[in-house]
Amino acid sequence: MKRVFFFVGKGGVGKTALSTSLAYYLSRQKRSVYFASIDPAHNICDIIGCPPFLGEREIEHGLFVEEVDVESYLRRFLRKIIEEIKSTYSYLKIINLDRMFEVIKNAPGMEESAIMHGLNDIIDRHRDMDYIIIDTPPTGLMLKIFNLPFITGTWLEGLRDLRYRILDRRAAISAIKGKEYFAKNVAIDKKKDKVLKEIMAQKALVDSLIKTFKEKSIFILVVNPDRLSLMEGIRIKNALSNINIHIKLILMNKSGLLPLSLDIKEFSHIPIKKIPFLENLSKEKIYQLADDWAKDILTHPQRHVNYFMEGWPSGLRRRS
Ligand SMILES: Nc1ncnc2c1ncn2[C@@H]1O[C@H](COP(=O)(O)OP(=O)(O)O)[C@@H](O)[C@H]1O
Ligand SMILES: [Mg+2]
Repeated sequence: MKRVFFFVGKGGVGKTALSTSLAYYLSRQKRSVYFASIDPAHNICDIIGCPPFLGEREIEHGLFVEEVDVESYLRRFLRKIIEEIKSTYSYLKIINLDRMFEVIKNAPGMEESAIMHGLNDIIDRHRDMDYIIIDTPPTGLMLKIFNLPFITGTWLEGLRDLRYRILDRRAAISAIKGKEYFAKNVAIDKKKDKVLKEIMAQKALVDSLIKTFKEKSIFILVVNPDRLSLMEGIRIKNALSNINIHIKLILMNKSGLLPLSLDIKEFSHIPIKKIPFLENLSKEKIYQLADDWAKDILTHPQRHVNYFMEGWPSGLRRRS
């Protein structure tokens, strides 16, 4: 996998149109592409004009599209949690699992967690693709999803240390009182403790996502030349830089609609590419949207990696 592209920006600015456009462009250059939407309100099919379908479909040679079924990830995620609670705490008969299911299902953060797990899963399953392109949900939810691995990572470290302390205490008690003091399936040994194992598994998952965000991903901010989308763009950029994720390219979509100055200090070190407003955006016209800026990604693959990281691509000019 060469790169994962994430398209972010305010609703309606053209994330789906432009991510579709890049997906077509790359696949027509004979690259394998997996293009997914993790927005619970899907609209890839509306843009490319096909009937909605479940799962993944190869819509052109080498171009695989999926509108990720967030609900099913949520269900799977809940089922997994419940199964784990059942098996890990099988000695605790007092847990009311039915009640627990309701509590967990309605707990805050469940949707983000499910999407985060879904995201990890789809990236993992498509590592052999040349490119992965992800169309993201509206800003609030999107930011929560990208923040979650970092927050969860910190929590998991705390939980791991707490678990170590619990196991150390158990070991100390059993050394004094004898092994029989604890029920048979209460773990004392760190290597045998299921809870610790699960904490470590979750930590590995968030670490892998963070690694993908930092080392493999290109975040593209889509804005329009209107004040609200730009303000939201600035907020997105700042919120992502707080977790050390940096926007590598700004696509000023639907430009020409309003004469608006692009001189925004928050964007001063990021390449900006203008994309014109095209009347009656047909499928053919959508292909054209990426023609200009996407070219660089393929024509200078190595430079592309570097310039998105450090410098400026040939087709993109710094604002004067
Ligand atoms: N460059 C463009 N020229 C004309 N219409 C566009 C352009 N980009 C997007 N659109 C249209 O704007 C609307 C919103 O685009 P969409 O990609 O769905 O936005 P988002 O995914 O950010 O919510 C759609 O009707 C789309 O066809
Ligand atoms: Mg969209």
